[in-house]
Amino acid sequence: MTDMTRRSLLVGAASLAATAPAALRAQGAAPGIHVLKDPNCGCCMAWVRILRDAGFEVTTEDSYGALLVRHKLDNGIPPAMASCHTAEIAGYMIEGHVPASDIRRLLRERPDAVGLAVPGMPYGSPGMGPEDRREAYDVFLIRRDGTTEVFTRYAAA
Ligand code: CU
Ligand code: CU
Repeated sequence: MTDMTRRSLLVGAASLAATAPAALRAQGAAPGIHVLKDPNCGCCMAWVRILRDAGFEVTTEDSYGALLVRHKLDNGIPPAMASCHTAEIAGYMIEGHVPASDIRRLLRERPDAVGLAVPGMPYGSPGMGPEDRREAYDVFLIRRDGTTEVFTRYAAA
């Protein structure tokens, strides 16, 4: 490869990266995230606020108890991965207090998977209290066969 082609390739890649978000915005395609949650759950709303602050277009829908559990199971979330709220973005499920940066990474990498989960409600995860006092927790990738792998590991603060 000549220096010239290498340079134009680099320039091409850089301008692609720069224009992609603008193009998405122009199409109104910044993917919206739809959240099903119990209206009495304060931590769910705290997580929604964090996502909005991070630039996500969030819509919410009230759901309750067994109905919400059914929704999780019907959408491929294994019982062991369950948390409070359940969201959907660009065909992926997002269960529980998943950090915005992990959702971004999921949308960038686009794995063939159900989505992401932070099971339970770990202290210090987004919407669950101060991050600087968080307990260790993992974000899991849920594969289509229901098995999981660690997507991101967050150490205790
Ligand atoms: Cu919660
Ligand atoms: Cu919640």
